[in-house]
Amino acid sequence: MDELSDLQRRYAELKERGPDLDLSRGKPPTDVLDLSNDFLGELDTYLSEDGTDIRNYGVATGLSECRRMLSDLLGVPADYMILGNNSSLSHMYNVFFMLQTFGINGSTPWSKEDGAKILCPVPGYDRHFAVTEDFGVEMIPVPMTDDGPDMDAVERLAAEDARVKAIWCIPLYSNPEGVVYSDETVSRLASMKTADPHFRIFWDNAYGVHHIFDEHRVADVFALSESAGNPDRVFYYFSTSKINFPGGGVGLVASSPANTRDMLTHIGRQTIGYDKITQLRTVKFFDGKAENIKKHMKDIAKLLRPRFELVIDSLDKAFEGTDIVTYKKPKGGYFLSLNVPDGCAKRVVRLAKEAGVKLTPAGATWPCGKDPKDRNIRIAPTCPTLAELETIMPIFCLCVKLAAAEKRAGSSR
Ligand SMILES: Cc1ncc(COP(=O)(O)O)c(C=O)c1O
Repeated sequence: MDELSDLQRRYAELKERGPDLDLSRGKPPTDVLDLSNDFLGELDTYLSEDGTDIRNYGVATGLSECRRMLSDLLGVPADYMILGNNSSLSHMYNVFFMLQTFGINGSTPWSKEDGAKILCPVPGYDRHFAVTEDFGVEMIPVPMTDDGPDMDAVERLAAEDARVKAIWCIPLYSNPEGVVYSDETVSRLASMKTADPHFRIFWDNAYGVHHIFDEHRVADVFALSESAGNPDRVFYYFSTSKINFPGGGVGLVASSPANTRDMLTHIGRQTIGYDKITQLRTVKFFDGKAENIKKHMKDIAKLLRPRFELVIDSLDKAFEGTDIVTYKKPKGGYFLSLNVPDGCAKRVVRLAKEAGVKLTPAGATWPCGKDPKDRNIRIAPTCPTLAELETIMPIFCLCVKLAAAEKRAGSSR
């Protein structure tokens, strides 16, 4: 039997058994959520350290003890922070909205310009692209390297066209490749000459403490931007969603005092104060100490690391000695991504779906969902159990091999 027929036979057998499993979204699994169940316990006070009644309105920037704890954790000045919402994504959307509609701290609203453009490192995070698409802003893909975005391309694009307004960045354990930005990348981003003097960096540090293997650090983008004379360039995002509960996290946006002052004039019209109850809960759960968050993340890593190892090991074994796929071993975070042969990603996703495994849609890692080579697939190993991953990975690998064999045989559908 030739290779293609053999793969088709094995696939047909697998399809018969067809599980119903999901490798698509980066959600914390139940065993990780369970580490935080005490978070739901009763609070012993409803007063913050300065006597604020957390049940009531007010305190637009968030409780000082929560900002201090997160400042210790992230090395971001507490007075740069606005805490609120359970989601950093909503802050990203809001900042985008403000830049587009009002401008922030002296910038011209993008909607009044002759076509704004945003640099989008690829593969990247589908929801960044969705936010950008919502505002009708053009996305310019920039390739990722092992050190972050291709900085020669970024510098050239930002310097030559004043319509290039910003760049999306996931500096630590990028989604989906798990890349860590090098010091040189951060320094070049912070100091590069830009045609638009109000060029912005959207610094989404979603995985800022999500070490899975070794601990990696990223250079201080605020300090570097300030010393390069670009104090208002950075909008920094983070949340505790993947520390305790996505449904009960504290979202954070941080920026220069001048930027935050301006943002607060608009935020003050959106809300009379965000949820401070969750902020106090978060402080109490970690006893106000960044060190305790780091310990908690180590416990999470203990549960997630075997999942990553299983996925990486399965890929290594399945594709050893072949040139069917390429992938980077993620340094941490929540994902990994792999490239299958050109023109095969959609086929792999469809084959996997029909065999009972849901994958992130092919193309999701590219602006507007359009991967020009139809080759990149994001894998989210965190949410399934180890037992589920043991079922999923052979199916996934077989689907990749089958799609590749179909392509070689010229019968790709
Ligand atoms: C890069 C990145 N940013 C932001 C988010 C969402 O974060 P939040 O829950 O704080 O909105 C995710 C979730 O997958 C992510 O991968």
